This record gives sequence, C-alpha cells and structure tokens, in this order.
Amino acid sequence: MKITFYGHSSILIETRGKRILFDPFITPNDKAKDVDVDSLNVDYVFISHGHEDHIADAEYIAKSQDATIVSNFEIVTWYQQKGIQNLWPMNLGGTKEFDFGTIKYVNAVHSSVLPDGTYGGNPGGFILKNEEGCVYFAGDTALTMDMELIGRYMTLDLAILPIGDNFTMGVGDAIICSDMINCNKVIGVHFDTFPPITVDQNKAIEEFKAADKELILLGIGENIEL
Ligand code: NI
Ligand code: MN
Repeated sequence: MKITFYGHSSILIETRGKRILFDPFITPNDKAKDVDVDSLNVDYVFISHGHEDHIADAEYIAKSQDATIVSNFEIVTWYQQKGIQNLWPMNLGGTKEFDFGTIKYVNAVHSSVLPDGTYGGNPGGFILKNEEGCVYFAGDTALTMDMELIGRYMTLDLAILPIGDNFTMGVGDAIICSDMINCNKVIGVHFDTFPPITVDQNKAIEEFKAADKELILLGIGENIEL
C-alpha cells in the first residue's frame, strides 16, 4: 500500500492496483501547483464532507478520469445532479466491500455544507482495510470519544489525522486521538495551507516523539509505503 500526499488533506492510496484519492483540493492550492491532476489516474474519489477545501477537484477528476465518487448520501446526490454516474453513497456506521478492500465510514465531529449552500449531510471519516494494511482517514474532525470505538474494532497500521487546529483537532488532540485509536503512526494533514492552520512542524514532530509516537509530515508529492 502506497500513500502519497498532495497537499492540505488530499491523500492518494494505491492498493490492489487501484488508485483511491481522498478529499481532492489540489488545483486551488498554491502549495500544490506542481501536481498534475490529469496524471493521477484515479479510480475512486472519497469525500469526507462538503467543504470546498475537500472537494475542489472531485467533479473534474470524476468526469475526466471516470472515477467513482464515494461519500455520504447527500454529497453523492449532489454529484448525481451534476451528471456524474459513477457514484456510491454510504453513511455513518456503514461498511462496504470494494474491489480494493473494505471501507468503514465512521463519525467525524465537524460540519458539512456544499459550496452552493446545499446541505452536505454529516461529516465522516473512512477506514480502509485489506491484506496490505488498515488506514484511518479521519477527515476534518474534533477529538471525540467515538474514536475509541475505532481502536476497539480495528487494528490500524496508520492514521491520517488533521493537526492544524482552529477548524479541527490540533497536535495535542491528535496525540490523544492516536491513543484512543491505538495507532502510533500518524500522517498529519490539514495544516499550513491557510494562515489560521499554521503549525510549527518541528515542534509537532517532537511532541509526538515525546509521547512515543511517530508524526509523519510529507512534502507535496511525497509518499510512504506500508
Ligand atoms: Ni471542513
Ligand atoms: Mn477542511
């Protein structure tokens, strides 16, 4: 399983020969201007919630790359009205077997509205599990006791958590989350894109280290292998 960071919360997971993109916000992100969206060859676009900084490139990628959009029922319905046919609706608590592995759709504590004001359903996160690994993509979320459930029924290899604070968890809460989900290997996302979510990266890494945890902050286009 290969995990590549494309800026903000945009993460590409390659597994079982499929390419799964989470929360694409690439072309409006100055920091990601060197990423060629057209070359991503995406099979699935997973959307955690309706905010622009998580969906910006979803429609274009779905249409130009024949990718399937997976999200909550309300967001999927919105894309259906835009003429996208490859869609799969889910909702919180649900599990679905895809050709690349199993997805469980879990709670996030945040908000969700689409850019034109359409109700965006409830925000969520995704857990992807197959024989290559088990990864939690939290989406935008506060720290919440619900995360303890994830530690109870999954053995995670990696968690992708927001660390930018202000709109989501910050570094301190991400460390507590890492305890609750029982996963000490974390990729931090949702930081440094905009001024309100600026993070002292070295300090964040040190804080994780002091808690016997690993915080991985990838550069744009960088990847790790599980
Ligand atoms: Ni958001
Ligand atoms: Mn966001």
